[in-house]
Amino acid sequence: MTAGLEGSLQQADRIVILDFGSQYAHLIARRIRELNVYSELVPPNISPGELAFSKPKGLILSGGPASIYKPGAPTCNPEIFKLGIPILGICYGLHLIAQAFGGKVEPAEKREYGKIELYVDDHSDLFENVESPTICWMSHGDLVSNLPEEFEVIAHTANTPAAAVRHRKLKIYGVQFHPEVAHTLKGLVILRNFAYKICGCKPTWTMKSFVEETVESIRRKVPPGERVLCALSGGVDSTTAALLASKALNERLLCVFVNNGLLRKGEPEKVLETVKSFNLNLVYVDASDRFLSRLKGVADPEEKRRIIGEEFVKVFSEVAEQHGPFQWLLQGTLYPDVIESARTGSPASRIKTHHNVAGLPEWMKFKLLEPLRYLYKDEVRKVARLLGLPEEIAGRHPFPGPGLAARVIGEVTAEKLRICREASYIVEEELKKAGLYGEVWQAFAVVGDDKAVGVLGDERSHGYMVTVRVVESVDGMTANWKKLPYEVLERISVRITNEVKNVTWVNYAISNKPPATIEPC
Ligand code: XMP
Repeated sequence: MTAGLEGSLQQADRIVILDFGSQYAHLIARRIRELNVYSELVPPNISPGELAFSKPKGLILSGGPASIYKPGAPTCNPEIFKLGIPILGICYGLHLIAQAFGGKVEPAEKREYGKIELYVDDHSDLFENVESPTICWMSHGDLVSNLPEEFEVIAHTANTPAAAVRHRKLKIYGVQFHPEVAHTLKGLVILRNFAYKICGCKPTWTMKSFVEETVESIRRKVPPGERVLCALSGGVDSTTAALLASKALNERLLCVFVNNGLLRKGEPEKVLETVKSFNLNLVYVDASDRFLSRLKGVADPEEKRRIIGEEFVKVFSEVAEQHGPFQWLLQGTLYPDVIESARTGSPASRIKTHHNVAGLPEWMKFKLLEPLRYLYKDEVRKVARLLGLPEEIAGRHPFPGPGLAARVIGEVTAEKLRICREASYIVEEELKKAGLYGEVWQAFAVVGDDKAVGVLGDERSHGYMVTVRVVESVDGMTANWKKLPYEVLERISVRITNEVKNVTWVNYAISNKPPATIEPC
């Protein structure tokens, strides 16, 4: 269940979104949070009692892919309309409202898709400070063909007479278009009017208040005498989670940082330096030899992952046993994972890609502490900066648990690791110089066993081929290759062949995900 917040967030005004499966549901939450109002997603079948318990200031019914008149279309308990909480229905949400009040929803004669002119008929509340016409983003095949008596139209388009509606007495609104999508020019103004004016929310949700309340809630949650164990990867999520927990628990938090020999150039040093400057209680294990010797002769990608995972659990368990007992495990789980798990019913589906502690032995099944479970990635970065983490960690790209083994195709050898590490460093450095690092999701170099002929001076040489991979993505689930300027690509290519010994060719990966994945193995 995703409803029912932790004590830490109880104080902020909040808007709850009933998620009917829209691809934009997260975007609605993001926009509301941009207005400094806390917002969260809940399943559509949440009971009115549960909803009322968390005292939201407003409800948003999201869009969804279904047609309301088809059998099995998701619905909500109509009692929620009687709670007296202001409601905004978006697209499918509007259809639900219309149906609940006795109106009719039918397939539209003309589907509306894309940027459409919206004519505002009433500027008094939802559309205050929105000029008419304005551009809105539409994506629908159904529309409200018969508006219930108690409702009135407050905006229309050429093909949709009821593009925005309002209950005559209650604070219930519906819009056919998507205010959360950036193409709706005044979308944020509309959402602001709903949140501030109609729901009466105060803009108190800030990262600063999040930090204060989270530290306080960890303190309350972990009783004196109990201790917390954390697998610190050095990435922004686990480091931020560790800093928050350490503020609350001091030495009752123990971080374990395992160097598996597959980290990026300078990474172990940077992580150790950061941890030291924040006085985190840390055990550092340089297990490079252990990992690399177990990877010898292994070329299959899944087998490499399995070995790395298994070895990690061994090392981690050894440290835990030595320094225990612990009652809690700290994890850097983020909000999209929580929601994704709730949607698919499977916590395993995505968690594995973010955490290295899956598959822990039974005796280590601790209580979970997940201070970031209500945050999006960019919010975590903000918290990281607020806590004073250096930009190298706060702005760092995601890095897979199996490390460079996911980027060395075939057997992981010392030579290929060196090339991958050095070349990746150049890719990142050149992107930073060009001001593009923060714009992309990941940027790295890949090396396999292919070799190509080159000339060095007048000498014929035979060296490795390196593939550069730079992708744009919102969540790593899909990705597009980045159309980098040719000059940047050329600088990367020249530097790699000049500076990384035994490389003769540089390629650029131009496959999107799907059909490719981001990491090559
Ligand atoms: P793929 O390669 O599946 O990656 O397109 C999607 C995102 O997940 C990261 N990734 C991993 N992260 N353990 C992790 O912690 C893994 O085994 C793993 N495999 C991929 C990858 O870097 C990308 O951001």
